Amino acid sequence: MSYRISKNVFIQRLLIKGGKVVNDDFSMIADVYVEDGVVRRVGTNLQPEPPEGLVVLDATNKLVMPGGIDTHTHMQFPFMGSRSKDDFYTGTKAAIAGGTTMIIDFAIPQKGSSLIEAFDTWKSWADPKVCCDYALHVAVTWWSSKVKEEMKSLVQSKGVNSFKMFMAYKDLYMINDEELYEAFSQCKELGAIAQVHAENGELIAQGSKKLLAMGITGPEGHELCRPEEVEAEATQRAITIANLTNCPLFVVHVMSKSAARVITNARREGKVVYGEPIAASLGTDGTNYWHENWAHAAAYVMGPPLRPDPSTPDFLMNLLANDDLSVTATDNCTFDTCQKALGKDDFTKIPNGVNGVEDRMSVIWEKGVYSGKMDENRFVAVTSTNAAKIFNLYPKKGRIAVGSDADIVIWDPKATRKISAQTHHQANNFNIFEGMVCHGVTVATISRGKVVYEGGNFNVTAGEGKYVSRPPFPPYVYKRIRRMGLPVPCRLLHRRGLPLSLLSSLPLY
Ligand code: URP
Ligand code: ZN
Ligand code: ZN
Ligand code: ZN
Repeated sequence: MSYRISKNVFIQRLLIKGGKVVNDDFSMIADVYVEDGVVRRVGTNLQPEPPEGLVVLDATNKLVMPGGIDTHTHMQFPFMGSRSKDDFYTGTKAAIAGGTTMIIDFAIPQKGSSLIEAFDTWKSWADPKVCCDYALHVAVTWWSSKVKEEMKSLVQSKGVNSFKMFMAYKDLYMINDEELYEAFSQCKELGAIAQVHAENGELIAQGSKKLLAMGITGPEGHELCRPEEVEAEATQRAITIANLTNCPLFVVHVMSKSAARVITNARREGKVVYGEPIAASLGTDGTNYWHENWAHAAAYVMGPPLRPDPSTPDFLMNLLANDDLSVTATDNCTFDTCQKALGKDDFTKIPNGVNGVEDRMSVIWEKGVYSGKMDENRFVAVTSTNAAKIFNLYPKKGRIAVGSDADIVIWDPKATRKISAQTHHQANNFNIFEGMVCHGVTVATISRGKVVYEGGNFNVTAGEGKYVSRPPFPPYVYKRIRRMGLPVPCRLLHRRGLPLSLLSSLPLY
């Protein structure tokens, strides 16, 4: 596994031979040579010297791709009276089995609590357990001058460049439009990405009261109280607020055709907005809420809900293929059957969340590539590269090139596997993709140059992954955010003495 150059000094050296190296823009047959966690050479017939201690992986007839980046997970998340079942150990182990080499989780403070303390808490949970690299988004669940200051410290000293704002979970995490406006303005100022959970929390509260009063208490009530327009309205509102603050927007867990159309239209108007469908919304649907078995139906409860229209996954995949949607994640937040049973008599009490971190890559390969909607390069873009670009990790992550981190998946596009809770590596007793047969299987996963998973076996210990800092102002995003070239009314205001820094946050006319 490693080559000793002097007493107690090891260099990890790895040669991946004969595979097809696939980046988001190009594929070629090449060897990849890795030393000390970093790609050092990409080319044909590489023969690194000396041969001693060199680990060689044969990738003939396989694809060699950047490891997946899952931009949305909730490991060991204390939520809705429970704690999500996969912790940072089982969750990241499952990730690497599925070919994902980095997750971005969320530090979520209670209203009135410190964002920095939440960040430190989540980091203290993750550091001793992670089996792959990770980063943290931070949620803004209330507003004050202290929150504003803490956002600045998180960006400047803790490597955070994205903040999630909830438009739902009334009385828990939801903030109002004025607070969204303030939070988005601060994101723009700091060079961060504003993320939104886009659902109208007031309408959900009204809808659930009405359904419960009618005697509808089962999982189907979860979808019925928040139809598509509840998601689409919030998505449109977030885009409007982002535009008026000149802030880039990232809509997490896009679950419906209606919300996806809103994002598509905004992108066609040139707005800097990104949509993140998840493995669940691309791979299954909300008809499961009507399943006769309560535990089965409850296992699919998440917010926003999966949609009962069975053509939704196909629709979202088409938009992902043509770049109306940009990035895939999972929102992995698992609760087992007895945890879900907290809501046995009241769907509003079913802990929200589903699995996905292990199966995302296979589900997207099957439904996206094998189905003929996208090529292998687009697959890399939507599972890894675009995430790296948006969250300013690129080209360290999201690419196989000299100087990049050796986070790599060796992928067999022809092999198949059947997804099942009996065989998955997640801590949960249910898998929402149960029985799905997917082409596209992980042969080996390499994290920072180390083969951590191969042929079904793990070679990784808890805490081996690293926290990855993300600097502000990702060029991929912020080069599209207006600074100069102000429209005429703004120039007139500038002549009257308003500073450019202020004017640049005004909307374009
Ligand atoms: O149902 C979900 N999505 N659970 C996790 C929390 C969130 O809103 O992302
Ligand atoms: Zn959410
Ligand atoms: Zn989430
Ligand atoms: Zn349990």
